[in-house]
Amino acid sequence: MEFLLVTQLLALISVTTALDNGLLRTPPMGWMAWERFRCDVDCKDDPKNCISENLFRDMADRLAEDGWRELGYEYVIIDDCWMSKQRDEHGRLQPDPLRFPGGIAKLARYVHDRGLKLGIYADMGTHTCMGYPGTTLDKIEIDAQTFASWGVDYLKFDGCHSNPVEQMIGYPRMSKALNATGRPIAYSCSWPVYVGGLPPNVNYSLMGEICHLWRNYYDIQDSWDSVINIVDWFSNNQDALQPAAGPGRWNDPDMLVIGNFGLSIDQARSQMALWAIMAAPLIMSNDLRTLSNDARAILQNKVAISINQDPRGMQGRRLLQEKSHIEVYWRPLSNSASALVFLSHRQDMPYLYHTSLAKLHYDPGSYEAYDVFTGRTMTGLTHTTDLKVSINPSGVVMWYIYPTKHKRFHNTWKEHTLSTYHVDEAEAVPPEVL
Ligand code: GLA
Repeated sequence: MEFLLVTQLLALISVTTALDNGLLRTPPMGWMAWERFRCDVDCKDDPKNCISENLFRDMADRLAEDGWRELGYEYVIIDDCWMSKQRDEHGRLQPDPLRFPGGIAKLARYVHDRGLKLGIYADMGTHTCMGYPGTTLDKIEIDAQTFASWGVDYLKFDGCHSNPVEQMIGYPRMSKALNATGRPIAYSCSWPVYVGGLPPNVNYSLMGEICHLWRNYYDIQDSWDSVINIVDWFSNNQDALQPAAGPGRWNDPDMLVIGNFGLSIDQARSQMALWAIMAAPLIMSNDLRTLSNDARAILQNKVAISINQDPRGMQGRRLLQEKSHIEVYWRPLSNSASALVFLSHRQDMPYLYHTSLAKLHYDPGSYEAYDVFTGRTMTGLTHTTDLKVSINPSGVVMWYIYPTKHKRFHNTWKEHTLSTYHVDEAEAVPPEVL
């Protein structure tokens, strides 16, 4: 332990605001290959799904043509298994020649031409998690230079096959090396996962200095069990994790699996809502070519996205865990607004939860709430209004709440459609995106 703290201190001294390059003032948004496409390298029998330049071009096309880019989904991120098993004669990483015949620089141009950014994967260690060439300490500078020369915009730096001392040296060194390239490259560090995710083994102020985002916990899988396990871990440890986040520095609970095989519609909404509360990266791993309309509507929900991307950049927290297995999450937003999420951990039927804004620590006053997934606005709320919220099993209700400028007291709930919203409620402070 003493050893860890001393080396952390050394690392801190040696970096001096290494990555203050103005990137990722809000959490990154985009698409990443891993959860959905893993290490499928069988382009002979599975050409549409194997890790190849075609897959990334397909996803770039979809992001550019299906409305994603305009919503902020801009990064196309290559994960493990893109490499050739050997470095080239100059010691540089190179892509698998059969699966990436055009090379990464050409793929980067393709992605840039569509107004998007390209991310890539490397591993601090002897090998990547799937056994491709790793970035040992002596290779950090050359790999950073190679990525920059290809026009890469984002690096996910994994940590398989290295020890804590190598990680302590390697993660800050890569931060410096990326900076030294002169190209603004977003830097995602997996370091915390490999040392248990929590202080004192993880120094989150140091993480914020050297990385834009970091994986804290285990890999997400395509199931509700996995999603809720991640949410529980982040919430149980929120005192250590929540203050670490802010503009340019984000906790990363891993990819959005919405649109795959494991989540119901309610569970998919839950992931979107909780990732927005946690100020988490909105990086999808799904097949954008075959996405259902339900999944698309959830992932393209403008208010959920604007909550996630709130410029204040404060991560939210779990406020309450009720005996009824209802949990309440809260995130403070810009312009005195906030987001509330009511999550049901139940497995029986929709649960009618009674509460009030006062019980959720809101100041006395008059409020309106916009229901993120139904699009209904509730007007005339005060802190004492009796709120009755019906929450589906493993589902959420998510509200964007803002104070009304003038106090008005209604004792009933009024519902408005979005089209009448501006006309009827001119004195309210509306959600910015509406
Ligand atoms: C680790 C990471 C995953 C993915 C795989 C690739 O498990 O946490 O996100 O990158 O490696 O092998």
